[in-house]
Amino acid sequence: MVLKTKSKKPMKLSSAVKKAVGSYQKDKDMLIQILLDLQSMFGWLSQEVLTEVSEQLEVPITQVYQIASYYKAFSLTPRGRHIVKVCLGTACQVRGSPRLLDTISAMLSMKPHETSKDMRFTLETVNCLGCCAMGPVVVVDGMYHSKPSTPALRKIFETAK
Ligand code: FES
Repeated sequence: MVLKTKSKKPMKLSSAVKKAVGSYQKDKDMLIQILLDLQSMFGWLSQEVLTEVSEQLEVPITQVYQIASYYKAFSLTPRGRHIVKVCLGTACQVRGSPRLLDTISAMLSMKPHETSKDMRFTLETVNCLGCCAMGPVVVVDGMYHSKPSTPALRKIFETAK
């Protein structure tokens, strides 16, 4: 099976997993790191990737699935090329993040926890990003935006191709 990587360079699934597993010398204790590497490569962890990791690392599929489904860092569904995170922590809520989330939802025509059909955006909510004084905070592809105005948001989303 050939999968599209985030770099848009197709890579055979077994080769990608072999590379990730091999870079940790097939060390079963590095399962989380291997999954993180594969998540970073593909943007999410498919059933095929989890099965291949299980086979190549010789770890039961139940264990691989348990880890992949437990940590929030992993996604078991496809994600967009751009990840938009709106903080709904208490401090950001008090400063207007629900309204900001509504604005972003309307701009992107999607609800929280959805991925756009063109796979361009995934909209997520988080509980606190640790920078409450900047609230309300939106993070787009790792870039923090404090109290972004509607025109600023429009510009951010337009430049995200
Ligand atoms: S509540 Fe939003 S950064 Fe802490």
